[in-house]
Amino acid sequence: MYEPKLICAALEQLFLPAADKSLLAGLRITITAGPTREAIDPVRFISNHSSGKMGYAIAAAAVALGAKVRLISGPLASPLPLPAAITPIMVTSATEMLNAVLADVGDIFIATAAVADYRPLAPATHKMKRDANGMNLTLTPNPDIVATVAALASPPFCVAFAAETEALKDYARQKFIAKKVNLIAANLVGGLEGGFNRDENSLWLFWGSGELQLPLMPKPQLALALLQQIALLYYPS
Ligand code: C5P
Repeated sequence: MYEPKLICAALEQLFLPAADKSLLAGLRITITAGPTREAIDPVRFISNHSSGKMGYAIAAAAVALGAKVRLISGPLASPLPLPAAITPIMVTSATEMLNAVLADVGDIFIATAAVADYRPLAPATHKMKRDANGMNLTLTPNPDIVATVAALASPPFCVAFAAETEALKDYARQKFIAKKVNLIAANLVGGLEGGFNRDENSLWLFWGSGELQLPLMPKPQLALALLQQIALLYYPS
């Protein structure tokens, strides 16, 4: 069961003021969530730590704010709740995730997935046998999904995440430039505030001309705060 604090935060989305409920009305938002799995053989894979909680929370919050959401999810260790308006598109590998994203990317793309950086170059068709001498695995880089989307001829508003263990601001700013996104949401992992598998998180947001710190809070509330900032940047007054 989720922590009571998290359940309350999710309930708050049901009772948003009328103005907030139409903040993202008419917008189509594509969100990636969870890890990807890259096959080594039919029974083994390479993957990342990711519960999918942040991406699923953003998808639920975007629906609460009136958006039409496509959620593209890697395989989750435990199922996560979603509003009835969302049927996730389940994928396994980074390549499948990229294809699903490109099928209809919409107006805003939010990349929360922990995509595996590499995949085995030649996955075995049958289960590989243990070799007492060890083994070498040749890996090839996966496509960078958010960078691919940001490089489209008519890109949507792109948001990337950066999970770092040190020098958060420097690495986040570097990623903002390298991936050519509109906004980057960075968080420290591995320390006391580590975001993986947790029900709470904090984020530093960086964009071309500004930054904003969202303090530690339940992921459903954090998702709302992030989307409110995205709306401000998407609809500059
Ligand atoms: O470069 P790094 O993996 O740290 O970047 C993280 C951000 O880029 C996240 O938003 C993640 O979803 C996205 N990403 C991606 N495709 C990849 C690797 C990361 O979309 N192959």
